[in-house]
Amino acid sequence: MSQVLQVSGLNKAFGAIVVAKDVSFAIDKGECVGVIGPNGAGKSSVFSLIAGVLKPDSGRVELLGRDITKLPGHKRVHAGIGRAFQIPQPFVGLTVFENVLSAAFSGAGLKGREAEDWACDVIARTGLVEKADTLAGSLSLLDRKNLEVAKAVATRAELLMLDEIGAGLTEREVARLVERIAVLKEDHAIIWIEHIAHALKQVADRILVLNFGEKVADGEFETVMSSPIVREIYMGLKEDA
Ligand SMILES: Nc1ncnc2c1ncn2[C@@H]1O[C@H](COP(=O)(O)OP(=O)(O)OP(=O)(O)O)[C@@H](O)[C@H]1O
Ligand SMILES: [Mg+2]
Repeated sequence: MSQVLQVSGLNKAFGAIVVAKDVSFAIDKGECVGVIGPNGAGKSSVFSLIAGVLKPDSGRVELLGRDITKLPGHKRVHAGIGRAFQIPQPFVGLTVFENVLSAAFSGAGLKGREAEDWACDVIARTGLVEKADTLAGSLSLLDRKNLEVAKAVATRAELLMLDEIGAGLTEREVARLVERIAVLKEDHAIIWIEHIAHALKQVADRILVLNFGEKVADGEFETVMSSPIVREIYMGLKEDA
């Protein structure tokens, strides 16, 4: 599998608050990496460093072998980074198709018929065909989340960054979201911050744990979840407890 993202020695602090401490990891195409860690651990901040919304104090971000550390956020979207947020913010007065089309225009730089064809393709791949003509403002929460992911895909992203998109969904809806992500994984590298551990268990190839901005574990779900450091962080259990 080819490498999509390489993060090397990322550091970032807001005064005394360290949100990234020498963070390094890589993600290949076809791989889904789950990110967990306590509230305030720096998960979303690391996403912002990758997306170019935050500037690192030091370190390097490479996408498809290209150093993008100094690239502004909008150029990173063009370079292949798509981000989906916990609280979707579609254009509520536009249809699903129009929302996806606008992401194809602005994020992928497509025009005319090519943009329309690509938007239709993305809508099919994200399971939104029946909702294509529905106003985004009238969608269910699950479909709004799907639209949020569809907009990221529509930018022609190689790397999809999903930040707690499962939040607020029912168990059944989370299961459908996981199915969707499993399909998208075939064509993308995916990094997914999520507090719903069983969702990550089903689709993530690796779990990366952040604590006080530091990567404290990176490995298979079962190994990471049963590791002493994760037990300590989540359950307050020291190794000898
Ligand atoms: N722009 C900023 N200026 C100052 N402090 C910030 C800024 N952005 C984030 N922080 C702080 O950095 C810490 C990490 O925040 P971040 O949002 O990255 O955590 P998180 O792991 O995503 O948490 P959560 O699980 O709650 O989403 C928090 O203490 C937060 O208040
Ligand atoms: Mg966060």
